[in-house]
Amino acid sequence: MTLVRMVGITKRFPGVLANDSVNFELRSGEVHGLLGENGAGKTTLMNILYGIYRPDEGEIYVDDRRVRIRSPRDAIRLGIGRVPQFPELVDKLSVAENLAVLFPENIMSRKRLEEIRSLAEKYGLPINVDAMVYELSLGERQRVEVVKALLRGARILILDEPTTVLTPKEVDTLFEALKKMRNEGKGIIFVSHKLSEVLSITDRVTVLRRGKVVATLETADTDEEELTRLMVGRRIVQRYERKKVPPGEEVLRVENVYVLNDKGGEAVRGISFTVRRGEIFGIAGVAGNGQKELIEAIAGLRKVEKGRIIVGGEEIRTPYQFRKYASHIPDDRMGMGVLPSLSVLDNLSLTLYRRFSRMGMIDMDDLRRFAEKLVERYKIVTPSLGAPAWQLSGGNIARLILARETAMGCRLLIAVHPTFGLDVASTDEVRRTLLRLRDKTAILLVSEDLDEILQLSDRIGVMYRGRFIGVLEADEADPEKVGLMMGGVAVESG
Ligand SMILES: Nc1ncnc2c1ncn2[C@@H]1O[C@H](COP(=O)(O)OP(=O)(O)OP(=O)(O)O)[C@@H](O)[C@H]1O
Ligand SMILES: [Mg+2]
Repeated sequence: MTLVRMVGITKRFPGVLANDSVNFELRSGEVHGLLGENGAGKTTLMNILYGIYRPDEGEIYVDDRRVRIRSPRDAIRLGIGRVPQFPELVDKLSVAENLAVLFPENIMSRKRLEEIRSLAEKYGLPINVDAMVYELSLGERQRVEVVKALLRGARILILDEPTTVLTPKEVDTLFEALKKMRNEGKGIIFVSHKLSEVLSITDRVTVLRRGKVVATLETADTDEEELTRLMVGRRIVQRYERKKVPPGEEVLRVENVYVLNDKGGEAVRGISFTVRRGEIFGIAGVAGNGQKELIEAIAGLRKVEKGRIIVGGEEIRTPYQFRKYASHIPDDRMGMGVLPSLSVLDNLSLTLYRRFSRMGMIDMDDLRRFAEKLVERYKIVTPSLGAPAWQLSGGNIARLILARETAMGCRLLIAVHPTFGLDVASTDEVRRTLLRLRDKTAILLVSEDLDEILQLSDRIGVMYRGRFIGVLEADEADPEKVGLMMGGVAVESG
């Protein structure tokens, strides 16, 4: 049975054809993967289905009836639910308070709470309704979003890059829930760049390229290589040469550092390491083991309770001191990486203005020419330099930040999950860029992606419960060893 049919959907934005006569079908009882390079039009298509955008052309059928979806409210009424990529809950309210909006007069009764609990349990998505949202991990927040969509009666569920914010264990939990929904006859659209996940969870896959559908395939009949070729039109071999660079001077020194988390608990408990110019120091670990707090402390954004952090010979106490020497690619790109309402030019200029100011005056023409070059060199797809950053696709926002943070060169670069949400080709470019920069820069890389850590790092510190459970040289590290250490098993080095 067909739940959704989108026929001949075309959507134009100034300067881009985001969807070009797209045909897409979702059946009952299937997980349908939606793949494509950054900017291919996946989110746009889903925004049309969810009533956020209206298509310029095309028709939508739900249960074989022609429908007009003018707003998310229309979509919800038709049984369409969406789990946003980054949870959109109110931080300062409890889970129950956040869910109260679903009920008449926003009232949450005991009976309703019971209903929520049993629904969550049924799908194996336990949530604590009394917890405050700010206390929850991103994975827990996403669970609340999934439950919210189900409470609204969604039979058609849109998940746009849902696993970006999840730990491997949370991914398993989500996939189990998706399987239960599929068995009940719901239809799920799974948008992702992670081919291994797409191959494991989906029944069919549709691939978009530059707004057009290039193929819809049975997942069982395809593989990573074919999907990559369909998406980018060529093969990509992810192999990197890490030529030895003689390490230069020490740029970052972390000395027996202790840092607290938001709840006042010890998140970092006595970490020490150094990073020299010419090396990539990788921090591996499952999310939530203190990586976030450590990085914030290094960037001067979080108080160091004990110990010292020294960048370029200066002890860091404020973000301003950090910025003098260092660049930062944060993982919360929309929140910390860009100012969404400012233009692409302004966002690029945030760190460039110093170079273009002469005696306090900024040479706008020079700045604009330089920004144009960056847009070209880093392949940032944008209608113009004046377009606001929020109009860019997720991958292009990541490129903008990479361009801004690396174009000028810096002594220290901190890259946190630098390839989250990037398509295969862009992931490849970012990794090559990091390796290229390493000649002149000390790089601190934080990633949960084991392959990435192993491919790029000269040394690897594995974080577990606020400490390094071990630090390995690249040539003594392998996936099994690092994987075990990430789970808390101390492994002899050497
Ligand atoms: N509101 C908007 N205004 C102008 N252009 C937009 C708007 N939304 C999307 N676009 C453009 O439409 C194209 C498709 O974007 P979309 O977000 O659908 O891509 P995507 O496939 O989801 O990419 P990613 O994998 O990077 O998330 C991009 O070129 C994007 O810049
Ligand atoms: Mg998208």
